[in-house]
Amino acid sequence: MSQAVLDFAHHRNPNAASDAERARLLENPGFGSVFTDHMVVINYQEGTGWHDARVVPYGPIPMDPASAVLHYAQEIFEGLKAYRLSDGSIGFFRPDANARRFRQSAERLAMAQLPEDLFVRSILELVRTDAAWVPREETKSLYLRPFMIATEPFLGVRPSAKYLYLVIASPVASYFKRATDTVSVWVTDDHVRAARGGTGDAKCGGNYAASLTAQRQAYDQGCDQVVFLDAVEHRWVEEMGGMNVFFVMRDGTLLTPPLSGTILPGVTRNSILVLARDRGLTVKEELYSFDQWQEDARSGRLAECFACGTAAVITGIGKVQHKNGSFVIGNGETGTLTGDLREQLVGIQRGQKADPHGWLVRLQD
Ligand SMILES: Cc1ncc(COP(=O)(O)O)c(C=O)c1O
Repeated sequence: MSQAVLDFAHHRNPNAASDAERARLLENPGFGSVFTDHMVVINYQEGTGWHDARVVPYGPIPMDPASAVLHYAQEIFEGLKAYRLSDGSIGFFRPDANARRFRQSAERLAMAQLPEDLFVRSILELVRTDAAWVPREETKSLYLRPFMIATEPFLGVRPSAKYLYLVIASPVASYFKRATDTVSVWVTDDHVRAARGGTGDAKCGGNYAASLTAQRQAYDQGCDQVVFLDAVEHRWVEEMGGMNVFFVMRDGTLLTPPLSGTILPGVTRNSILVLARDRGLTVKEELYSFDQWQEDARSGRLAECFACGTAAVITGIGKVQHKNGSFVIGNGETGTLTGDLREQLVGIQRGQKADPHGWLVRLQD
């Protein structure tokens, strides 16, 4: 349905944090447990379309216990960050790419599709309102979580006729304890994340619910993250619980699993492919087996390995553990190309390095 341009109503939070309280919370925010003073809400109703766009005080949302999302998990979300740039202004990294993926996730989950420009505007509205919450330190940022839930109170199994779209914001430090350290991963071969024809390439809560047992296994094994293999042969490396994965060969080739419908098309993954091609590197989007991974790590053909995503940026993988043992990548530390790509990407996100593809979007006053 075509949609007239929506204006956002603003309702200021009368209990907004004081400057001192906010400064205290920003000192050590961790990841995902501190929230700003406001949130965005937009309603959707079949026949009416998107309406009542508003920025309101952050807080609980009333829900009918029959709301479809609570029963059939019709829910999608996104994750992107607002960065404090070196000149003190605020920037976003490729928010249009998140807007597109959000629409595609909605399509896969049979949900109403939020116009991409409204998605981007909703983020700008919230960050403009809560600008004081964007941390000033280079190691911190404001994580934005747009999401949509099915709110029609109806227990029949069919797409909901009502949705609620929200954006909340959370100041964060790095996802892993120390941003430049490598992480260890657990390769699960008894749980799969997604199968062809399923929802692996959509960012829906159900995928993450299905991944949690394996993530818990990873923690139990003393690992930071889980790596999933394909659902059919349990042979091909797919992705991690919340990140895509890259392999750097000794000959300089960069390899990552292809987008075959079962892995999330990461914005970071795509950006790295572009930056690597800009550098003249050979880049392959190809299947890579777990057996090959072990063999290449042992023979030294594999030089580096890294995880990438909005939360983790680019983080080296130092150690790989699985049911039959473990192996180390290189010397277990962050590789040279991994470090260089991370520096370049962070530099673009912070407005400190050349941005040849125009990925940085600045917040206008
Ligand atoms: C399963 C999964 N894969 C990959 C990614 C990386 O995607 P992006 O680079 O867009 O953050 C994420 C994070 O959003 C994820 O949850």
